[in-house]
Amino acid sequence: MTLNDLVFQHLESDHDVEQHLELMKAVFGADGRVDIMARKWIDHHPAMSLSDFFVIKHRNKIVSGLNLIPSIWSIGGVQLKVAELACVATLPEYRHQGLQRRLMNKYHDRLSSQGYDLSAIEGIPYYYRQFGYEYAIPLDEQIRIKLDQIPDFSIKHKIRPFKTGDIPKAMQLLGQSQRKFYIHTIRAKDIWKMQQETEMVAEYKFEAHVVEEKGVEIAYFRMNENQPEKTLMLREVTDVDQATAQSILGFLKDIGKKRGLETLVATISGLEPFTEHMVAIGGVKQPPYAWQMRVTDYAKLFQKMKPLLDKRLASSTYRHITEKISFNFYRYTVQLTIQDGAIAGIKRLETSEDRTIRANPMVFTQLLLGYRSREELQAIYPDFIIRPSRRNLIDVLFPKMPSYIHTEY
Ligand SMILES: CC(C)(COP(=O)(O)OP(=O)(O)OC[C@H]1O[C@@H](n2cnc3c(N)ncnc32)[C@H](O)[C@@H]1OP(=O)(O)O)[C@@H](O)C(=O)NCCC(=O)NCCS
Repeated sequence: MTLNDLVFQHLESDHDVEQHLELMKAVFGADGRVDIMARKWIDHHPAMSLSDFFVIKHRNKIVSGLNLIPSIWSIGGVQLKVAELACVATLPEYRHQGLQRRLMNKYHDRLSSQGYDLSAIEGIPYYYRQFGYEYAIPLDEQIRIKLDQIPDFSIKHKIRPFKTGDIPKAMQLLGQSQRKFYIHTIRAKDIWKMQQETEMVAEYKFEAHVVEEKGVEIAYFRMNENQPEKTLMLREVTDVDQATAQSILGFLKDIGKKRGLETLVATISGLEPFTEHMVAIGGVKQPPYAWQMRVTDYAKLFQKMKPLLDKRLASSTYRHITEKISFNFYRYTVQLTIQDGAIAGIKRLETSEDRTIRANPMVFTQLLLGYRSREELQAIYPDFIIRPSRRNLIDVLFPKMPSYIHTEY
């Protein structure tokens, strides 16, 4: 195989699409339904186009690919442009020849040129570190309980199928539930519609229900079943009080039993009130995985987060400081000029002289995204060094806070 035989491009034609779906089936298997998910995006995703699929062809055959799912996330109320990296795949006989490295370079170039703040991947362990990714947001939180362990709660609410007309109210309910998270997604109306029309989230088919109290919608939930594992999966649920949680649990137990299932698995945040109610009746939390995150450009991201950082300074003992704060990322520095408690300038310096705040830039992602505190990071990483004079200020600027990412594709 010579370099000339390998051509980089984006999907362009129907023939390319078919080949790409074949690649998905070959790498992830037909049971993984990854090809069905990719087809869904191509046919229905409101913001994705064929140019979001990056591929390498060998003599006209697609042998390697990855794709970009555009999304909007909120961090402390500031909206960020996020790219989710997905469907990373190379045919077995073409692996270990640098094809994915080439695609990742193209993908990261796109993120820089189109102003994406973050890239996120749910993917396989370890592999993405070499491309600048760091574990930095909880993922795959789970709580499990046997259906037989759930008491026979009476269903005191009306629980009915979710209709397209429920979307505006559901958007409100989701937004309200997401307030407890530092970082969360902002699900656009078009994404709601895509999920409702295709009856799919990611690669799985789901069913959604609305919970009503005295004719008013007070919650909704989404579920699907995994027959081979005999589990009923609760995929999404909004804030509930105890009575509502018990009605939903009663409903899920009934439906699970009727379908011959054995276990209820809620893939929701450990902070959801529903989780508390599952724990109260014996539900067991499983250890989570984590999103792997990459910051495109710290100086630009600080700039975007300026309103939030200003707010934190203003409500702290630093509300009147006038100083320069240098974040030394070892190969370069991002310097904040603060005047009378407000950020007046942010610039990147190609030096690393100021040694007051020093951080491995990948590890800093954990601090920035509220995943770990300054103190925890200092205890773990000897190259995460904050001198005592700056520790409290860093704690004020970057507190540890809980986050949760709802599925937006
Ligand atoms: C993971 C996968 C996409 C890598 O594709 P590839 O085309 O072989 O990747 P590359 O040859 O460009 O390798 C890039 C780098 O990763 C390294 N690498 C390859 N596979 C690796 C693995 N499984 N774990 C860690 N490093 C790996 C390579 O050595 C290379 O590093 P180098 O340039 O320093 O030598 C491919 O093995 C695959 O399709 N696996 C099955 C599907 C899958 O798991 N996808 C990820 C879903 S999140």
